[in-house]
Amino acid sequence: MKFFVDTADTAEIKSLAASGLLDGVTTNPSLIAKSGKQFVDVIAEICAIVDGPVSAEVAAMDFDGMMAEAAVLRRIAKNVAIKVPLTPDGLRACKHLSNDGVQVNVTLCFSPAQALLAAKAGAAFISPFVGRLDDIGQDGMGLIAEIMEIYQNYPFKTEVLVASVRHTMHVVQAAKLGAHVATLPPNVLRALFAHPLTDKGLAAFMADWAATGQKIV
Ligand code: G3P
Repeated sequence: MKFFVDTADTAEIKSLAASGLLDGVTTNPSLIAKSGKQFVDVIAEICAIVDGPVSAEVAAMDFDGMMAEAAVLRRIAKNVAIKVPLTPDGLRACKHLSNDGVQVNVTLCFSPAQALLAAKAGAAFISPFVGRLDDIGQDGMGLIAEIMEIYQNYPFKTEVLVASVRHTMHVVQAAKLGAHVATLPPNVLRALFAHPLTDKGLAAFMADWAATGQKIV
């Protein structure tokens, strides 16, 4: 399973990339706004930190506008993935860009039917938002299960990128379902490391080691 981080905070991305466990980055207009930086500048900074796909989302709503923005975003770096919304124009742009060899991330997916359309449009990634479904009392992880089942029936190359992740159990459940990627807020990625028994066990080992008075180097 690949881990992407869902942020435009370059300090966080640098810190998490140092773990060697980061496979890519996703951003959206809200995260860009939160960064307080110019869109093109911040995407260029992120692309210089990570080798994997960096999703940059178009802001236009129409096909021609999306294609014009995608042309600008593609020039930033080779690892830019163009993020388009799951609309008729977005999927039309996805098809054109995919045919041109561009990685496209189709975002704002909330149904298996939408995910099927994105795969047919040649998306590299489909982003179902599990947390936002859970927020309104629907089953976010159930959607992942349905998409995985559908995709396994066909030779689609589209990877399921679990988005709107709220906690570590979303990650574990997505991994059990075989989802290809999870994009995680930095706090969720850090939380994956944590267990109180790890901390307790390590403290006991270090106390016993200190009592030996030995050093390894
Ligand atoms: O970037 C897309 C998605 O991960 C957003 O998540 O937390 O705003 O629902 P959230």
